[in-house]
Amino acid sequence: MNRTHVLPTVDDTRALGAGLAALARPGDLIVLVGPLGAGKTALTQGIGAALGVGEPVTSPTFVIARVHSGGRVPLVHVDAYRLGSMADVDDLDLDATTTESVTVVEWGQGLVEQLADEHLEVRLDRRDDDVRTAELVPHGPGWERRLPPP
Ligand SMILES: Nc1ncnc2c1ncn2[C@@H]1O[C@H](COP(=O)(O)OP(=O)(O)OP(=O)(O)O)[C@@H](O)[C@H]1O
Ligand SMILES: [Mg+2]
Repeated sequence: MNRTHVLPTVDDTRALGAGLAALARPGDLIVLVGPLGAGKTALTQGIGAALGVGEPVTSPTFVIARVHSGGRVPLVHVDAYRLGSMADVDDLDLDATTTESVTVVEWGQGLVEQLADEHLEVRLDRRDDDVRTAELVPHGPGWERRLPPP
């Protein structure tokens, strides 16, 4: 799993998500950073499919968070776009806890980092030619070890 990726198609973005799912463990926090349409939800779809959740992952914009169980590990998919603060995702009273799940947060930078000791930041961007790019930025030794040296 390289730290930088060029993603010409949405399937490339989903494949990157599948690769991240293969590295993911219960309790992991993955924070997706990037502008509108960069592919945050598409990446989460790839994570969910590879974890084996038995349903499509759609944008949680109007529900803040959704739990997808039935896979190897539950996937908690959070959209923090309209949240001013997030003391604790567990306060959302989801039917899963973040220690047992892989938690993926769109628009969560600056809000969710305190939820876990470490997290993986995925910086998605949209180039002028519409090709997406991704950079994986580990925060903490666990994610650092799971990725190749920069
Ligand atoms: N390489 C690519 N990766 C991801 N999405 C792509 C790519 N190329 C085209 N697309 C399209 O761009 C859109 C990306 O939407 P997506 O909902 O994943 O973005 P998002 O970052 O979650 O947006 P939002 O900020 O609104 O939540 C989809 O319609 C998708 O089909
Ligand atoms: Mg989205």
